[in-house]
Amino acid sequence: HAEPIDVVVTGAAGQIAYSLLYQIAAGTIFGPQQPINLRLLDIPPMLKVLDGVVMELEDLALPLLREVLPTAEPAKAFNNVAAAFLVGAMPRKEGMERKDLLAANVEIFKVQGEALDKYARKDVKVLVVGNPANTNAIICSHYAPSIPKENFTAMTRLDQNRAQATLAAKLNVQVDKIKNVIIWGNHSSTQYPDAAHATVTLSSGVKPVPSEINDDEWLNNIFVSTIQKRGAAVIAARKMSSAMSAAKAAGDHMRDWWFGTKPGEWVSMGVVSDGSYGISKDVVFSFPVIIKDKHYEIVQNLPISDFAKSKLDITSKELEEERAEANNVLKK
Ligand code: NAI
Repeated sequence: HAEPIDVVVTGAAGQIAYSLLYQIAAGTIFGPQQPINLRLLDIPPMLKVLDGVVMELEDLALPLLREVLPTAEPAKAFNNVAAAFLVGAMPRKEGMERKDLLAANVEIFKVQGEALDKYARKDVKVLVVGNPANTNAIICSHYAPSIPKENFTAMTRLDQNRAQATLAAKLNVQVDKIKNVIIWGNHSSTQYPDAAHATVTLSSGVKPVPSEINDDEWLNNIFVSTIQKRGAAVIAARKMSSAMSAAKAAGDHMRDWWFGTKPGEWVSMGVVSDGSYGISKDVVFSFPVIIKDKHYEIVQNLPISDFAKSKLDITSKELEEERAEANNVLKK
């Protein structure tokens, strides 16, 4: 029988956590054989709400779920954790700019980085969901120097899932027939959703998505802006940010990191840049990756068109600016 692993979810009283916790406890992320001790971190005013979440977790009556610890203390929440879902952050409200978010969130991710450094397992897998996710991840990593930089990632899987669903609808196929669409860069409106290397499985065989769609105007403009603005569209309609789909994407990201990607398929993750594709080092940038034995590698040598290059430049410039602003906040 497998020993339980400790898994932390921050922002545990919030919306995304509400959908995410069920997936973790049900075994859909770490597998049906892996018992889980859950650590639930939120801020003191939310502890009452968190009690309700704990009651519901009990009422799920799921055998994989062992201890559940609700807490407002990072030292307890991060103790011995093998996986960390950093969801808690100040969420973006309608009309709010990402830049306003940055200052409020840098401080949170500094504290959590320090707690990870002190208390977590050195092989902890960290997934930052809370926005601005890429920059929060680099800040967090910076304050956890004893943990490898590779262990800090940011979520762009929701964008990938959105892109995949949009292409499937356009080609009138089931969503799983679309593979290898890429999200490059920041989880923000500068991200570049790239269908240039995507394939679609049709009854006639596996075909390149661009030639099947055969409409560069749609791919370069409508597709890109639809995905870039999808988060805002959900906020405008729901008056709250994407939660169910974000939680599902967080599960997809961590499951693929834990168990690996399928042969011939890659997924997009925000990871610390190693300079691949000319992206400056020390920003967390979304790249296509292949994962094996719990380690990812950036897919190399994909041909990058001039159009794609111009899009990569925009999003990497934004990440460098965010990084600089974060550093300014930290210096004050
Ligand atoms: P929410 O507001 O429902 O929940 C956030 C929770 O975090 C609240 O319970 C709050 O008390 C808690 N929190 C705040 N500061 C904390 C701290 N220092 N430590 C622990 N908990 C803390 O927000 P929701 O909808 O769950 O979204 C969470 C974050 O995820 C937001 O930043 C949102 O922008 C982001 N997001 C990211 C996506 C992505 O694709 N990367 C997609 C959708 C949302």
